Amino acid sequence: MNLGQSILFFLIYFFLIILILLEILVIALGIFFMFIGFKSAPYVPSHKKVIEDLLKEIEFKKGMKVADLGSGDGRVIIALAKIGCEAHGYEINPFLCWFTRLRIKKLGLKKQAFVHRKNFFSEDLSKFDLIFTYLLPKQMEKLEEKLLKELKTGSLVVSNAFSFPHWQPFKTTKFLKIYKKE
Ligand SMILES: C[S@@+](CC[C@H](N)C(=O)[O-])C[C@H]1O[C@@H](n2cnc3c(N)ncnc32)[C@H](O)[C@@H]1O
Repeated sequence: MNLGQSILFFLIYFFLIILILLEILVIALGIFFMFIGFKSAPYVPSHKKVIEDLLKEIEFKKGMKVADLGSGDGRVIIALAKIGCEAHGYEINPFLCWFTRLRIKKLGLKKQAFVHRKNFFSEDLSKFDLIFTYLLPKQMEKLEEKLLKELKTGSLVVSNAFSFPHWQPFKTTKFLKIYKKE
């Protein structure tokens, strides 16, 4: 085998090894995200019409403290930070947290939008004036109890699609259920 052929074989093996490593990485990431999805609500972003509805239905004030519990790619907290709220996202998926931070930085919203890689069930939510959720029914019962215990009177809770099992919304739209802590 001459030098040219040796280099060619080396390059072929090199690219084959890179391809195999990439495939292993993709499978590992898939298993990782599946595991996160099984443990909690899977990542399904709110449609932009839902966010438009939220902005239309609620009278947001500058400096209002808002949180999205399970903030996904950060679209809700970014929309609320853009109108002057102090917006916090809680998200357990590290990839989505990283992506959200990147978007916040790119949009120059670092002083208004914050993402925490935390399980929101372990966090104190008492400082928030409004909570947004888009979660599975199985999480809503436990969350209802927590919110009723922690939120101050007058705080709002807006749920995309799903209802809390015992709490009555004071308003419903095509997408949203809006609750007030009495
Ligand atoms: C249906 S997505 C909603 C994303 C975003 N709120 C939106 O409306 O576009 C639910 C998100 O909640 C996250 N999640 C589920 N349980 C969580 C928990 N206990 N703590 C933090 N994040 C959670 C999931 O990783 C997922 O990204």
